[in-house]
Amino acid sequence: MSRRYLMCRPTYFAVDYAINPWMDPTAPVDAGLAVAQWTRLHELYLSLGHTVDLIDPLPGLPDMVFAANGATVVDGKVYGAQFRHPERADEGPAYLAWFDQQGFDVYAAKSVNEGEGDILLAGEHLLAGTGLRTELAAHAEAQELFGRPVITLQLVDPRYYHLDTALTVLSPTNVAYYPGAFSPGSQAVLRRLYPDAVIATAADAAVLGLNAVSDGHRVVLPSAATRLAEALASKGFQPVPVDVSELHKAGGGPKCCTLEVRA
Ligand code: ARG
Repeated sequence: MSRRYLMCRPTYFAVDYAINPWMDPTAPVDAGLAVAQWTRLHELYLSLGHTVDLIDPLPGLPDMVFAANGATVVDGKVYGAQFRHPERADEGPAYLAWFDQQGFDVYAAKSVNEGEGDILLAGEHLLAGTGLRTELAAHAEAQELFGRPVITLQLVDPRYYHLDTALTVLSPTNVAYYPGAFSPGSQAVLRRLYPDAVIATAADAAVLGLNAVSDGHRVVLPSAATRLAEALASKGFQPVPVDVSELHKAGGGPKCCTLEVRA
């Protein structure tokens, strides 16, 4: 099924600060390789028949490539992001201005939330992460704005700081996730909602394999997540591996680079 995505070229990509455990500002980053890997991902979406809009990257915002964090867009309504860390604060207004210019109904957030990093549409409802970045008040704000039930999930492992690093929405009725990223109560919620879920291993999670983008059948995921690719295939999904090693140095993967635009 064809999707519409928003992406941001990693022109100014760097690891200049550390706001998650994957980021090491003293380790070398190959910005050229990051652009090449991102370009491959962009071309892959086009070859899969998706539409991709591009927002202009801004200097001084090295994480702006992670478009998923820029907003949450459902039913043509855009819930703006409000970043937890000052290093990324200017990205929220930049993404909101883009949607405003495109004629969307935009809503500036009153609560800290990092867009689709933590708020994922799953069928008719939203799954929302909290505990590390997005605050609980944002879940209530999103529920009120979108008029869709929001299911709160508690993230407990700093390596999996956003919901989209620990869970992939595969289809309207199924997900893949790494249980260890969630509190016991949230693990129970996920078992109850998704008895047939794909359970990722610790090794799958550690290569950010769950930072994947599904169109309901084809699942674009980091090529390092080989076990997860097999598990997805055994459930009838088609894994589409992509090398995102350079973006991984900032704690990102394919999903982080991809904001779904649901007009
Ligand atoms: N360095 C970024 C941060 O820590 C990575 C964001 C990844 N995006 C995502 N949707 N998980 O905020």
